Amino acid sequence: MSQTSVKTTGKKRIGILTSGGDCAGLNAIIRAVVYAATRLGWEVVGIEDGTAGLLVRPMRYKVLTRQMFDTTIMRLGGTILGTTNKGNPFKFPMPDGTFKDRSSEITDGIKELGIEALIGIGGDGSMAILRTLAKRGNFKLICIPKTIDNDVGKTENSVGFITAAYVATEALDRLQPTAASHDRVMVLEVMGRDAGAIAMSAGIAGGADVILIPEIPYDIDKVAEKIISVRDDEKRNFALVVVSEAVKTVDGKALQVEFIGGEKRYGGIGSYIGEQIAAKTGFETRVTVLGHVQRGCAPIPEDRLLAAAFGVHAVELVAAGKHDRMVAWSNREVIDVPIEEAIASQQEVDLNGALVRTARSLGICLGD
Ligand code: F6P
Repeated sequence: MSQTSVKTTGKKRIGILTSGGDCAGLNAIIRAVVYAATRLGWEVVGIEDGTAGLLVRPMRYKVLTRQMFDTTIMRLGGTILGTTNKGNPFKFPMPDGTFKDRSSEITDGIKELGIEALIGIGGDGSMAILRTLAKRGNFKLICIPKTIDNDVGKTENSVGFITAAYVATEALDRLQPTAASHDRVMVLEVMGRDAGAIAMSAGIAGGADVILIPEIPYDIDKVAEKIISVRDDEKRNFALVVVSEAVKTVDGKALQVEFIGGEKRYGGIGSYIGEQIAAKTGFETRVTVLGHVQRGCAPIPEDRLLAAAFGVHAVELVAAGKHDRMVAWSNREVIDVPIEEAIASQQEVDLNGALVRTARSLGICLGD
């Protein structure tokens, strides 16, 4: 469906793209934007693979029509537009190993396509890049927050987080019976980059005994004490431990795997914690790394609702001539905030908030 030449119809044209890591609910957002915008008589151009679709000529994009969105697409994980979490256009890696500022190719592309406003769906990193592009290219930008990490500031939730927390909870539901059958400690490593939101929510919902998050430095002896108390005091033959991928080792090292080409990614903390627990408690321990399973699935209803409300509000903002705003969820309402403020205030697990208080009152060990 990619277009090879720019065809305009005289209608008001807006653009939409998905950027950064995928998550559940992206297609539901795209559908909401297309439905709301086409009802106003506008045309929606979907740019492929984030800004990468504008870095090639002919550009890669497709005109999105209401007819494309039968009800199957909103249920699908991933993004029909494709996405990328690589290739910062201001410092784009070239084949000869050098870096080049290719941002003008993107801003020229937006002009060439006749896009009056761009709706960018992304996390904080993508939003920062899009905002700089919008300033340099003088185009209107509205952002919609999505990330399984739920670390975007100024919004209670980003699209994709609740589904990821649901998947991690379901993993604990599946680990519990096998743990109980084999008298084991099950360690579940979950994603979250530098935020412990998935671990915290899934850990409480899934009945974990220990939850380790990057926001709370842990003491491995406290973790071992908790496991021993589960066995000796509660007389239970198994325990569940949730570890967020960015938790550090006892000596403060983040565990990362280095790939060919030098790229580093989090990985290994689950096994490390599992070994430490086995050594200190004598319990047999097994480790599950949940990884991208948390991203690639159908959005649960809460994420579909958030996606619908965010998509519609983004179109309302464009209609009102607003720009440089991010849609957000606050107090059961969809609101909008300056993109700059959202990027500047990364959301972490609130150490005095309801989730941490709840976990502590349930006797869950947070490692401190
Ligand atoms: O930011 C979303 C996220 O899923 C993080 O939780 C995780 O650390 C990272 O992306 C994984 O990225 P990639 O898809 O490049 O492996």
